[in-house]
Amino acid sequence: MPVVTSRVTDLIGRTPLFELAATDTGTRLFLKLENMNPTGAAKIRMAKAMIDDAEARGLLRPGGHIIESTSGNTGLGLAVIAAERGYRFTAVVDHHACRDKLRTMRAMGAELVFVSDGDDDSLSTSAREELAEKMTRDECEAAERAGLEPNTYFTEQHNNDANPLGYYVLADELLADLGRVDALISAVGTGGSLFGTGRRLRDLGLEPLMYGVEPVGSIAFGGPAGPYWQSGTGTPEGADPGKTVDEDMSLLKEGVKVSDVEAFATARVIASKLGLMIGGSAGGSVFAALDRMDDFPAGSTVVTIIGDGGEKYLDTVFDDEWMNDRDLLDSDTESKVARMLDRYSPALNPRECDTRTHTIVIPSAGQPATDSGIADSATMPGYAAGAAGK
Ligand SMILES: Cc1ncc(COP(=O)(O)O)c(C=O)c1O
Repeated sequence: MPVVTSRVTDLIGRTPLFELAATDTGTRLFLKLENMNPTGAAKIRMAKAMIDDAEARGLLRPGGHIIESTSGNTGLGLAVIAAERGYRFTAVVDHHACRDKLRTMRAMGAELVFVSDGDDDSLSTSAREELAEKMTRDECEAAERAGLEPNTYFTEQHNNDANPLGYYVLADELLADLGRVDALISAVGTGGSLFGTGRRLRDLGLEPLMYGVEPVGSIAFGGPAGPYWQSGTGTPEGADPGKTVDEDMSLLKEGVKVSDVEAFATARVIASKLGLMIGGSAGGSVFAALDRMDDFPAGSTVVTIIGDGGEKYLDTVFDDEWMNDRDLLDSDTESKVARMLDRYSPALNPRECDTRTHTIVIPSAGQPATDSGIADSATMPGYAAGAAGK
């Protein structure tokens, strides 16, 4: 990443890692803070990959029109690329999407087309996709009738090979920063982020245990179907997770279901105890990871991809009234998450000789500062023994 740039897409990637948990068996859980990307989400990686691919294949040319069905984060990424490259962008959305994502897309010049009216806040993934496909078809047919070459492109994230490819660099970053990844545990919507990262790690010779996480009510790992409030993840009844999930489902060690209560309690407790704001679906993945800390093989390096940050959910996950109205506040679950953090969080269990954070070596005059990087726990006496005495 350049030190100074005039293009927002140059700011994608090189996101930091946050060590959320460690066990006395040497297993460590790292959060890949993808909320640090422009748009505050991982999806901008794949949005750029899908447009690069469409341009390379001649499906999108200068002045073209991008159409996508989105719950928000993909649309935010596409809005950035469209602004930067001069495309028109239409996001087909529903009122289940969080309002800030919709407002931000609009601010960046996207046109929003709603599949339902303002009173209906249900998740309408399949209706959105049908409408996006129809709009694209109508526009391409109209261009052909006028004797023009169509220049409207439906990115169709659920069936676009460039979606998982967009996360290959994320895998490279993990390997560069951690040296190894023994388990990946992350939310699955299209499957692009988890399986794209996993595919690349496998190509590089690793065999991480893969855990997919979806909301209770989502159907990619089986039913029963039902409503859920975790945003940007899962597969509601009637929708199809798409080709990435179809192709790579067999790589999963486990398909984990997490309830909204567990996911949101996790995001809220992490915010209040550590000051780290993660989104609701990331809360689900982190809950699943914390719940399995003692099940991972000893000494594992475990990674959860944080799809987006909590700031987008101030009106929902972090709003007591909204949570109460939907019966999502549960003090027992919040206490369970707090206990897991008390037990595992290095920040809440400072150890003697705890030098695992980056240490900047102060340079002598005329020399550049150096960064020690993440130290290896195996080399540090005292690291393994948690203060909570697990
Ligand atoms: C909020 C949120 N949840 C879940 C996911 C996982 O989605 P997918 O499986 O489509 O990569 C993402 C992806 O970046 C996300 O931003």
